[in-house]
Amino acid sequence: MSFRDKIGKTGSERRSNLILALDFPFTKSEERKTLFAKVSAILEAVQSHLCAVKINHHLTLPFGLFDGVEKLVKRAHDLGLLAIMDCKANDIGSTNRVIAEYYFDSGFDALIANPFVGWEEGLQPIFDVSQNMQRGIILLVYMSHKASPEGYGQIVFDPLTGQKIPQYMSFAIKALKYGADGVVVGATFPEKIKEIHAIVGDKAPIYSPGIGTQGGGLIPTLEAGTKYLIVGRSIVEAHNPKEAASLIQKLTYPRKSEN
Ligand code: XMP
Repeated sequence: MSFRDKIGKTGSERRSNLILALDFPFTKSEERKTLFAKVSAILEAVQSHLCAVKINHHLTLPFGLFDGVEKLVKRAHDLGLLAIMDCKANDIGSTNRVIAEYYFDSGFDALIANPFVGWEEGLQPIFDVSQNMQRGIILLVYMSHKASPEGYGQIVFDPLTGQKIPQYMSFAIKALKYGADGVVVGATFPEKIKEIHAIVGDKAPIYSPGIGTQGGGLIPTLEAGTKYLIVGRSIVEAHNPKEAASLIQKLTYPRKSEN
């Protein structure tokens, strides 16, 4: 089963399209000893409201992939959740291949990659590894931060059609061409979600980070066409993370189309 189908099934079984960004601020070496326990406690507290967890450098750097993160991925799986690595892979193909092999070997179900590197000797090896190991690739199409238009919004020349189009449109078209399992579009740009959704439809579901702390709203994001909400600090740093996650789940699931 493709990752796209796997997360669709997990989402409907668990009645949630919420993905927890398991992000924690920098901790000094003394406090780092208790970090794993803190991370695990949040995961256990909110897990029933999620369909997946997303892990980023916040945890791979302090714990290491096979010394801590692998355990979290295993725990997520035992709880029935999927695990996504937000490494934004962005290198030459031979390096991308090794990146994908390590993350998938540690158990991740999918990883996020950056289409700026292109296909040949860029993303192709990542897609090959993913296909061989039956995992998923989610591509960045429009990031959530304020400067995102500088890169993702620039106008580019498409040599195939001879037309000038925005970079994000070109990435959305490529996501379909490459067979990506999904695309990332920031919740902070709902008008871009709408435009991108018109291109990718259900073939590459939209994942949106940027809810809450970065200013994106839940309902406008879903109404614009996002399928999966990625939320970090608004849950992890909430006074009561379980209550925060539960509220998001209640407000956002089921969506009209999933009633
Ligand atoms: P917050 O705390 O803002 O965390 O809810 C968001 C999480 O998502 C990551 N992030 C992104 N990842 N494309 C991505 O692949 C994006 O446009 C993007 N914006 C935010 C962020 O690093 C954090 O882990």
